[in-house]
Amino acid sequence: MYIGVDYYPEHWPEERWAYDADRMRDAGFNVVRLAEFAWQRFEPVEGRFEFEWLDKALATLKSRGISAILGTPTAVAPVWLDRKYPETAAENNQGRRLTWGVRKANCPTSPAYRLLSERITRAMAAHYASNPAVIGWQTDNEFDGPICYCHGCVVDFQDWLHKRHGSIEALNAAWGTHFWGHAYSAFAEIGAPENLDHYNPGLCLDWLRHHTWRTVRFQHEQVRVLRELCPNHFVTHNFMAFGNRDVNGFELARDLDFASVDVYPIWSDQSIPYEAAAAGDLTRGLKRKNYWVMESTAGPCGWGAFGRDPFPGEIRKVAFQQVAHGSDNHVWFRWRACTAGREQYWHGLLGHDGKPLRRYAEAGATARDLHKLASKLAGTTVRADVAIVFDYDSRWAVRIQPGYDGNDVQQALMRYHAAAFRAGVNVDIVSAQADLSAYKAVFAPDLHVLPDALATRLCAYVENGGVLVADCRTGVKTETNLCHDRTLPGLLSAALGIEIEEYGAHSLEYPVIGKERLPGSFTSIKYNDWITPKTAASLATYDHWHLGAYPAVTRNTYGKGAGYYVGTVANEDSFYDALIAAVFAEAGVAARISPPPGVEVSVREGDGKTIVFVLNHTDQPIEIPIADSYGDLLSDADVSGSIQLDRFGVAVLEERPTKRDGRA
Ligand code: GAL
Repeated sequence: MYIGVDYYPEHWPEERWAYDADRMRDAGFNVVRLAEFAWQRFEPVEGRFEFEWLDKALATLKSRGISAILGTPTAVAPVWLDRKYPETAAENNQGRRLTWGVRKANCPTSPAYRLLSERITRAMAAHYASNPAVIGWQTDNEFDGPICYCHGCVVDFQDWLHKRHGSIEALNAAWGTHFWGHAYSAFAEIGAPENLDHYNPGLCLDWLRHHTWRTVRFQHEQVRVLRELCPNHFVTHNFMAFGNRDVNGFELARDLDFASVDVYPIWSDQSIPYEAAAAGDLTRGLKRKNYWVMESTAGPCGWGAFGRDPFPGEIRKVAFQQVAHGSDNHVWFRWRACTAGREQYWHGLLGHDGKPLRRYAEAGATARDLHKLASKLAGTTVRADVAIVFDYDSRWAVRIQPGYDGNDVQQALMRYHAAAFRAGVNVDIVSAQADLSAYKAVFAPDLHVLPDALATRLCAYVENGGVLVADCRTGVKTETNLCHDRTLPGLLSAALGIEIEEYGAHSLEYPVIGKERLPGSFTSIKYNDWITPKTAASLATYDHWHLGAYPAVTRNTYGKGAGYYVGTVANEDSFYDALIAAVFAEAGVAARISPPPGVEVSVREGDGKTIVFVLNHTDQPIEIPIADSYGDLLSDADVSGSIQLDRFGVAVLEERPTKRDGRA
């Protein structure tokens, strides 16, 4: 297991490096990520490469048993590059080139930028291919925006559209350009949409898809060089999970050996880190395999104002939460808070003074725990019975036209994910292209874009015994972002057993009365489908003179499975808890340990092992009843009956052989 820090030797005098490396080794760290912003240091003058400084740093680290991941340094271009090749700067939607002086400000289509980026990658790869300290590469840093609107990108977009649509007639039909007289007669006439809320929705969706395409191409040009020159090194990228808004993470991950994630769940409040749990599940879902944490909370975070200092136990808990979700290696951002630059207040394990104090000690203790667990965790991953579909096309279609105010795919997804978290059940977050057949239950939140092939797969999934949950506006859009000319929910009507002829968005509240499988009183907000059940049963109704005629939630038996439909947004978590309980009961999904509020349970399995992580996200000690007996892998004690977790405490329990389902 690799545990370590993001380290910037170039920020400190060379005399300090040995001290730092000694402290890293003492803490049990065996990896650093380096150099992802060091282009200017490597190539201070165009074409003149200087690697001696990093060679020395790597030697210092390696002599302490510390290996390195190198970043291709293309997230920040040196100033000479900007001044000599101004066309490499990204252009905003007003036609203005971005001013040099921040980062992530370059055009991924610019031939000069691509050439220079490939050249620095090639020079680094050639130089470090056989350096014994180097084990792998991170491409660039957190690919996403800004979206470049320059002429080169627009021409590239036109070419891409030509290939995608084949003819201008086909594109006109796909986008519905008869509206407002927007038909094109040649691809060369097409421009970028200046914004996403006034332009043709088909144009907007393709524009976002193309931004992913050009980013994937940009990354590929680096990956190709790294594969050629460094065949023994891995290649990864540090994703931001849901923070990747403009780039489809599933597509960007294709070229990589595994995905990595940057997670910073500790800000000013002390809420339950639902999103970090989902970030782990999404990062695991990008490649359907275990992942790395490449950056994580090491202290108060912020560029201007900063957040809370993690309380004792929180740095450790953040790391364990990710390991519980399938991360196999952990890196903290950063080693030491920098005294200069925009991120002076983004604190490291060490403060500005460079003293290894409390946060350093906690990370070291965590590293020792994780090293102890490494052999036990080998060969294990999260094997969820439940999937949530996260579809970038729908995410973007909703961003372009939310339908109802405030609609957002990530939030829609989180309603179910957080309910599964509270139920103590693991979830995979997968793309709409993933094979769903092995899952007992599948949630498809906000699945606005529903190509026929996907609808057919979802129907087959239910027919063959799956339990599907769909919700408001499912299937409203074609893959070119037209409205389907079908009664909603289109091709899913039979599987869900409903039709929706009318619907509306609002800012009112309507009481909802649940029944049978969905007991409770809830509040409907934002949106209602006026659902006509065909073969479905109603699980909840509105307490309202008109809406009372329509169910708010339905369940339909279809083939060997069931289709649930949620035709509104509920204001209460308890609604999603009740719904998920009904779905899990029907699908035969159960938690190994039912967590009390504020506690998270996540299970890794494989190689005949079942390892249950129990994380206390509260600052109160807590006792958790457990039905089976386990070995506590951190304390080496046998536990049964209940476990006691300290505030922010973590237990890692290995299920004893001869347990239920004969799993051991
Ligand atoms: C990350 C980024 C790091 C650093 C950190 C703190 O998103 O990858 O380079 O900037 O945030 O701002």
